[in-house]
Amino acid sequence: MTPNTLYCRWPFPYLFLCHSNSTNEASLNPYPLTKFLTWVQITIQTLFGSSSHLLFSTYYQFPKHISICSLSLGIFGSSLSQSPAMGETDSFFSNKSAKIFVAGHRGLVGSAIVRKLQSLGFTNLLLRTHADLDLTRQSDVESFFADEKPHYVVLAAAKVGGIHANNTYPADFIAINLQIQTNVIDSSYRHGVNKILFLGSSCIYPKFAPQPIPENALLSGPLEPTNEWYAVAKIAGIKMCQAYRIQHGFDAISAMPTNLYGPNDNFHPENSHVLPALMRRFHKAKVEGAKEVVVWGTGSPLREFLHVDDLADAVVFLLGNYSGLEHVNVGSGKEVTIKELAELVKEVVGFEGELVWDTSKPDGTPRKLMDSSKLASLGWKAKISLKDGLIDTYKWYLENVKQ
Ligand SMILES: NC(=O)c1ccc[n+]([C@@H]2O[C@H](COP(=O)([O-])OP(=O)(O)OC[C@H]3O[C@@H](n4cnc5c(N)ncnc54)[C@H](OP(=O)(O)O)[C@@H]3O)[C@@H](O)[C@H]2O)c1
Repeated sequence: MTPNTLYCRWPFPYLFLCHSNSTNEASLNPYPLTKFLTWVQITIQTLFGSSSHLLFSTYYQFPKHISICSLSLGIFGSSLSQSPAMGETDSFFSNKSAKIFVAGHRGLVGSAIVRKLQSLGFTNLLLRTHADLDLTRQSDVESFFADEKPHYVVLAAAKVGGIHANNTYPADFIAINLQIQTNVIDSSYRHGVNKILFLGSSCIYPKFAPQPIPENALLSGPLEPTNEWYAVAKIAGIKMCQAYRIQHGFDAISAMPTNLYGPNDNFHPENSHVLPALMRRFHKAKVEGAKEVVVWGTGSPLREFLHVDDLADAVVFLLGNYSGLEHVNVGSGKEVTIKELAELVKEVVGFEGELVWDTSKPDGTPRKLMDSSKLASLGWKAKISLKDGLIDTYKWYLENVKQ
């Protein structure tokens, strides 16, 4: 039985879960009355779908007795119709012609989301390259939303890069990301988008966050200084989604993926992440008949990896099944040491030489694992094993990256 059917037939366990989320959400609000209203609103939204936003606009703006009447009528009316969890899910998954804007559709994440939506039969994807629509340009973004009026938005466009790029271009990392997010989230709200999903990353968490890192570790300590510009922008994106939900009842959610890999990854010799960098180096060594590949550090740090097709699956799952204030971690829940990863990449690539560890070089953070139990409790888990994902990625690399 899928989680969706479970929610429909027995809404109460789901309601209980949503209550625990809504308690967190409500607790963010400093005023007791609004805190209570937020809690009730989230519960009602969970039960009766996003149309109940309208009901609560009434609740906040009109005298109490009118509001209570309309609230009661709303609850009664909705309860005669259908299960809200099902309505929420149905409204996304059943309308395959809904117009969905995937911002950043040529990137690692955006391209996987497009593949996933297409495989599910969504036929009305709205796609614009960076050259067609520069999302940092406010008036262009506003005109685009006014003309196209998308129903759903997935924000996978961002200025992304490693430590070197962050250190060299801090102004670009903070300004471009803030501009893209602000323009897209605000225009989505103003032009009647049903729901937006904003993508951040695990770098939003403090350098010394508890491991595995739970969602509530956000803003609990200082950030890792090497990517703080990017992280601050991403944190602002999460907060903007929360603010628009609280003030306007806008269905804006955020997902924070762990380290991703897969087709369309960046295999650049200097700017790539550890997994594509290892793949490229082993491949080059195999082709050139090298005897060894030297890798920095001891290989002992623990890391988590998620195939980007799994992330895309989670994004679509969240669009259909989650409407909460708090962001959601998306990880595989499986850790490997860098040494295990390197051995596996070596095997998949078929490099038969030696793997040598240069222990005079720094190791980096000893452990970085996301706590994805919230997403698991909603009913989603990763399906692609690291080995299968590496085989798939290497195939893509051979077919698509200029050797
Ligand atoms: N890669 C990971 O391991 C990872 C992990 C966790 C989270 N994420 C998150 O996932 C999101 C996407 O990352 P990604 O890895 O897919 O990045 P990516 O491969 O670099 O793709 C980013 C996309 O955004 C587009 N873009 C950038 N600036 C733009 C602008 N001003 N206007 C319009 N489009 C613009 C890029 O187009 P151009 O290339 O043409 O500029 C590109 O298509 C980011 O928010 C990132 O934080 C990624």
